[in-house]
Amino acid sequence: MQYEDLIVEVHGKVALIRLNRPKALNALNDNMMNELGEALAAFDKDAQIGCIVLTGSEKAFAAGADIVAMKDYTYQDTYRDNYITRNWEHILKVRKPVIGAVAGYALGGGCELAMMCDFLIAADTAKFGQPEIKIGVTPGAGATQRLPRTIGKSKAMDLLLTARTIDAVEAERIGIVSRVVPADQLIAQALEAADTIAAMPLSVAMMIKDAVNRAFETTLTEGVNYERRLFHAAFGTPAQREGMSAFIEKRLPKFEGL
Ligand code: HXC
Repeated sequence: MQYEDLIVEVHGKVALIRLNRPKALNALNDNMMNELGEALAAFDKDAQIGCIVLTGSEKAFAAGADIVAMKDYTYQDTYRDNYITRNWEHILKVRKPVIGAVAGYALGGGCELAMMCDFLIAADTAKFGQPEIKIGVTPGAGATQRLPRTIGKSKAMDLLLTARTIDAVEAERIGIVSRVVPADQLIAQALEAADTIAAMPLSVAMMIKDAVNRAFETTLTEGVNYERRLFHAAFGTPAQREGMSAFIEKRLPKFEGL
């Protein structure tokens, strides 16, 4: 599939989606977000794919929503046209694991899009921040909600109110990012992590993602009950039979198609 603002590649069982508006540091406009939604939905449906990697360029994952496109919006435009709900949150509907691989700037909506991935691997060049206050708006793609849940109130307030940019090491220390790797190894390491996940039973990976996301939406007791139902439901499935038999028979499991 050809896209105007994305480059997509398939590496074995892993789909790699690159945001690609290099002249605007991957500023996120309507077309790119529409295309991203289409590409994610297509790979989510594709039985050959077990994990998706979302990345940008060496210079920018994404420097935010497209300020040029937004500059003259009115409240009426944004409300009537359902900006940004109409096309920014397709990623949250993806049921397969999505790894964000971030190099360079992940600012504003770029940082928010990154935080909608299941986990982040950052290049040592990555820079995260929520500079919206400097251009006279609040964040609009979840940063005021996801940041405090991820890094706590004090750090979230600091980032959101001062608009300061943090580097990859700080982002890892405070928990925005799972791993930091040398910039020239970012894609290789993200693909390796994705290959590892894609070799697992997909149905179980999807259940784990579902259960972890439930943790942000419900009480501990309800969340643990939900996990328990999934755990019970796993018994008797081909993945459980194969995984446990392989362990007992001292061989590698074969999870293809499971
Ligand atoms: C539109 C952008 C852009 C953006 C960069 N560009 N960010 N265009 N929207 N968010 C464009 C620049 O205008 C410029 O175009 C080209 O990309 C290169 O950018 P420079 O500024 O020349 O690069 P540099 O000096 O290296 O500075 C990089 C930067 C800076 C620090 C990332 O570009 C910057 O501060 N960008 C804006 C970051 C920001 O405020 N993001 C939040 C947006 S609001 P030309 O044509 O001049 O070469 C947001 C709200 C989300 O995201 C709400 C929910 C959707």
